[in-house]
Amino acid sequence: MWDLRKTAIVLGLLSVSKALTFRQTSSYPPPEPCTGNCTFIHDPSVVRRSDGTWLRFSTVGNIAVATAPALTGPWTYRGALLPQGSTIKLRDDQELWAPDVFFSNGQFYAYYSVSKSGFQGSEVGVATSVTGDVGTWTDHGSVGVPKSTDYNIIDPNFFRECDTCDNVWTFGSAWQGVYQTSLSSDFLKWSGEAPHQVAYNSSHPAHPQDYPSITEGGFLFWWEVSGTKYYYLFFSSGACCNAANDLEAPGDEYKIMVCRATSPTGPFVDANGKNCASGNGGTLVLGSHGNVYAPGGQGVIVDPAVNRVALYFHYANPSIGYAFNQFLFGFNYLDFSSGWPVVTA
Ligand SMILES: *[C@@H]1O[C@H](CO)[C@@H](O)[C@H](O)[C@H]1NC(C)=O
Ligand SMILES: *[C@@H]1O[C@H](CO)[C@@H](O)[C@H](O)[C@H]1NC(C)=O
Repeated sequence: MWDLRKTAIVLGLLSVSKALTFRQTSSYPPPEPCTGNCTFIHDPSVVRRSDGTWLRFSTVGNIAVATAPALTGPWTYRGALLPQGSTIKLRDDQELWAPDVFFSNGQFYAYYSVSKSGFQGSEVGVATSVTGDVGTWTDHGSVGVPKSTDYNIIDPNFFRECDTCDNVWTFGSAWQGVYQTSLSSDFLKWSGEAPHQVAYNSSHPAHPQDYPSITEGGFLFWWEVSGTKYYYLFFSSGACCNAANDLEAPGDEYKIMVCRATSPTGPFVDANGKNCASGNGGTLVLGSHGNVYAPGGQGVIVDPAVNRVALYFHYANPSIGYAFNQFLFGFNYLDFSSGWPVVTA
C-alpha cells in the first residue's frame, strides 16, 4: 500500500482520481455483501440481541437505528435513538455522533457524542433501553468526564471483559488523540479516574481541508492468540470526511489502525513495537482500496452465525460518491492467527 502511494506521488502525473484507480491493486478483499439500507452510515456501532436480531446505530439524525436478521442484512431503518435530541445542551447547532452500544445488567447502554465539527467542548451522553428498539430509550445525560484542552470528549467506547471485571472507557479525538478512563459501576457517570492517553500521532499534516487528519474512534477488543490474551485498540487515523473536490493526498484519508497490549489499559504498541501514545505507533488494518475509500469509524464483533470476528466500518465508494450521505456500511472478517488482525476473505 505505502509503496504504491509513494510511487503515485513521486510520478506526480496522476490526478487524485487516477491515484484511486491505481490503488486498486491492493490485496484487501472487498467488503462482505450488505443488503437493505446500508447507506448514509457514519461511525456505526453494531450489537446482536439475544433473540438473534442485529441492531446498528450510527451518526445521522439523532443516532440512526437499523435492525437486521444477520450482519449482512437486510437492514431496515427504524428511526432515531433520541428523536428529541439529547438532554445535553451545548449549542444550538449541536449534533449527535458516533454511538457505542453494549448490553449488560439486562439493558442496552448507548453512549453518544454531542458535538459539532471543530468544537472542542463536546460531551458524551448515555441512554438506556431494555430492548434497544426505537421509542424505548431513556436519556441520562452527560457521563461528566471533565473537559480538557488536551482532548475532545467524543467517540466513546465501553469495554468490560467479564461481569466482575473493571470497565475501561475509551474516548477522544483530535487535539491529543485517544484517551482512556473508566465509569462508575452503574456505567452512567465518570468514575473519577484521571484520563490517560493511549494513541496519538504527532505527524499528522496540517492542511487546508475542512476535515483535518486526526487520531480518533478508539475501539477495544480482546482476543487470545496461542495462549496469550491481547487487548487490541482499533482506531481511525487520517481525515474522516471529504468532498469530491477536496480529497486528501492519497494516504492521508481515513484508515483503520490497530495497536495491542497485554492489559486493557495499555501501554499499546504496534507490530513494530512502537508505542502508540508516545511513538506515533499504529499498524494499518484497512486502508482505501478498490471501491473502498477512507474506511473508518470501526467496531469489531464476533458473528456467531459464521463463528468469525468481523471488523465493521463506514466507507465511501468512489463510483457512488464522497458526499456525507453517500457513506456506506461495510464489514470484513479478521484473522488473528499471526497475533495481529488481518482482513481476510
Ligand atoms: C436509510 O438509513 C439512513 C440512516 O442510516 C436513513 O437516514 C435513511 O432515511 C434510510 N432510508 C430509508 C429508505 O429508510
Ligand atoms: C500518522 O500520521 C502520518 C501523516 O499523516 C501518517 O502517514 C501515518 O500513517 C500516521 N500513523 C498513524 C499510526 O496513524
